[in-house]
This record gives sequence, structure tokens and C-alpha cells, in this order.
Amino acid sequence: MKGLVYEGPKQVAVKEVPDAKVQGPLDAVIRLTTTNICGSDLHMYEGRTAVEEGKVLGHENMGIVEEVGPGVQQVKPGDRVSVPFNIACGTCRNCQTGWWSFCTRVNPTEGMDGAAYGYANMGPYDGGQAEFLRVPFADVNLLHLPQGTEHENDFTMLSDIFPTGWHGVELSGFVPGDRVAVFGGGPVGLMAAHSAIIRGASEVFVVDQVPDRLRLAESIGAVGIDFSAGDPDEQILERTGGLGCDRGVEAVGFQAHDAAGEEHPALTLDHLVNVVRTTGGIGVVGVYVPQDPGVDPPERADRVDWQYGTFFTKGQSMGTGQAPVKRYNRQLRDLIIKGRARPSFIVSHEVPLDEAPDAYDKFDRRVEGYTKVLLKPHG
Ligand SMILES: NC(=O)c1ccc[n+]([C@@H]2O[C@H](COP(=O)([O-])OP(=O)(O)OC[C@H]3O[C@@H](n4cnc5c(N)ncnc54)[C@H](O)[C@@H]3O)[C@@H](O)[C@H]2O)c1
Ligand SMILES: [Zn+2]
Ligand SMILES: [Zn+2]
Repeated sequence: MKGLVYEGPKQVAVKEVPDAKVQGPLDAVIRLTTTNICGSDLHMYEGRTAVEEGKVLGHENMGIVEEVGPGVQQVKPGDRVSVPFNIACGTCRNCQTGWWSFCTRVNPTEGMDGAAYGYANMGPYDGGQAEFLRVPFADVNLLHLPQGTEHENDFTMLSDIFPTGWHGVELSGFVPGDRVAVFGGGPVGLMAAHSAIIRGASEVFVVDQVPDRLRLAESIGAVGIDFSAGDPDEQILERTGGLGCDRGVEAVGFQAHDAAGEEHPALTLDHLVNVVRTTGGIGVVGVYVPQDPGVDPPERADRVDWQYGTFFTKGQSMGTGQAPVKRYNRQLRDLIIKGRARPSFIVSHEVPLDEAPDAYDKFDRRVEGYTKVLLKPHG
């Protein structure tokens, strides 16, 4: 089969790779109908993670079940399914308490709980930017979708970024009526804004500098804040009569940069501490890493020099980590079916798998108009 393979910094290629197969009784193989490129893929693409060369990337997967192992009971060939990016066993302590993203059994990497498809440090699982994908613990991990092709570009957001944006809002301690600042207007930030609005936020700010991303934020009723036009904290404080926000969501991660493009991993954390009120909450879903091959030594990335003193003094709280997709994806699917959520508003491109390397390059450079790229491996 064909798959998109990581070959080194800024090098990916579509190649012939070993077929995805049922390897154990609880596995399924999915025929991909849609698989997306994510901002998380870009950390790998840029050589800023420990991902191995030769890995098939792709953790935002959906499709049709092709084959199941003899122990699979809930799904059968022909079912249309969404595949959460987390791989979970369903029975360990973390899975049983809803922390599917920190499953203690699926990742053989020393010191790491939680696994994902085609992802650095997240276990030996190939990704779904390919024709087919192997899914372990298929009964646990697959979410049924209505048969057919309706809502395809909305449902494809259920594997990661819609639940991740929702989780960022959840981690912040949000309640209806709260005012929210989202740092990062990429796909995850826009999903956090969409979630906050659906959940009854009184006002939502989205901070970025890419014009089309700010326009998308405004198209759903958020206020776009361009950080290249001036300090975003001052802009938000001015617009809120000095009150700031009740909640904040970090949707950028360790490669946060200033308007000139220079990276400062603490930048958005500091902004959030400044714009969130005393006793307010911050949800961090942008990724931070213990090691980054892009800095010397790589372990330096583990120490982020942020305003912890002010954070403490303001009595704020913070939640972090990879999102437990299964905690939300069923309900978010039903919001889509009933027309109350439309996460496809961010889709900018739909391309065949062969065009993925070019799409990586353009999405990585945040070329105007490249907000969210969906790959269609079977046309
Ligand atoms: N926790 C999870 O489960 C999870 C899941 C998916 C993605 N992520 C992470 O979320 C982050 C965002 O992903 P994405 O798909 O939206 O990708 P993205 O990289 O396209 O979006 C990041 C956006 O942040 C903006 N930005 C950069 N510096 C900024 C700053 N100082 N202030 C405000 N905005 C700034 C960029 O212009 C860009 O639009 C990534 O770190 C990704 O790895 C986490
Ligand atoms: Zn993703
Ligand atoms: Zn588990």
C-alpha cells in the first residue's frame, strides 16, 4: 500500500510501505476515507522531535472497517468509523478513569504513558496518512458514524482537533458566561473557540498573526487579535475594561514565536498568565516536549522559563496534556449530526495522498489559505 513516510527534517515522501494487517485478535484494519495533516505533524516534519525516519505519519484518521480480528465484537467490515488519535487498552487505571490519552499499557517507551498513530515517542504504531491503518483494541478505540458520506469533513475533526479544542476549554475550568482568550488561531485554537462559543462563552478572543486564521475566528463570532499589531495582552485588557478573561487556552505549544518569527517557548504561557484574571484557569493543549533536537542540548527544552510566580500569586490553575478524545467524541459527533457544531469551517484543502508532501510544505510555512488540509487516500 502507499503511505506518507518521514525521511528527515522537512522531508516526507509517499512510498510503497508494508500493508496494514490484523496482527492480533482485537485488531481492525481501516480503509482511510479522510486523514488530516495536523500542527502536531509539523513538530515532527521540522525535525523538532525524536520521531524515527521511516515512520508512516498520520493520527487524524477515519474510514471504513476493512477487516477485524476474531475477538472484535462491536465493529464489523463495512462500518464507518472515526479513529481517536490516542490508542487505549480500555482496561488500565488511566483508561478506566477517562484518561485515554495516558493508557499505561500501549506504549513500550520507557517512562511514557499514552500512545498514538504515527507520532514521536507514542509507541511503535504507524499512522494513517496511507491507504489502510491497523487499529489495536478496535472495540475500545473506534467510534461508529452514520453510514454513507454525509458530514465527512466535519466527522474527520473528531479524531483529534475538535475534542482537543473542547478539552482545552474543559481544562481551563470553563463555565457558561465566561470570557475566554485562545492563544493560537491554528486548527486547534479555532476548535477551542468553536467549542467555547457552543458552550455559551460570553466573549472569545483568538490571538494569532495569520490574517486568514483571524478571519476564520471572526466568522464564528470570536474577536481576532493580531499580535503583530501590538502586545496582545494590552489589546485584550483594553477591550475588557482592564478585567481580562476568566479562562485561557494555549493552542500554540513550544514553538510559539514573536511577530518576527523568533521562538520563545514561554511566550504564550506568559501572555495567558497576564490576561487571565485572578483565580481564573488555563488549559494547555499546545504541545511542550522534554527534549527538542532543535535546541542544544535537547534537554534544555524541558525547562520553560515562564511567569510561575505571577501565576501563583494570581491563584490561577492550569491543566495540560494530550486530549483524551474518547471522553468527548461521541457527544461531539451528535452535535455535528444535529447541526449544532460545524468544525469543517476550517477546511481549506482536500487533496489526494500523492500531493501530501507539497501540502506539508505549504501548511508548515503557514502559507495564506492553508488552514487545514484533508488527505483523501482513495480519491
Ligand atoms: N494536546 C493535544 O492533544 C493536541 C492535539 C493536537 C494538536 N496539539 C498541538 O496544538 C498546537 C496547535 O496545533 P494546530 O494544528 O492548531 O497547528 P498550527 O501550528 O497550525 O497552529 C499554531 C498557530 O499558533 C500561531 N502562533 C505562533 N506563535 C504565536 C503566539 N506567540 N501567539 C499566538 N499565536 C501564535 C501560529 O501562527 C499558528 O497559526 C500544536 O502544538 C499541536 O502539536 C495538541
Ligand atoms: Zn492532530
Ligand atoms: Zn489503558
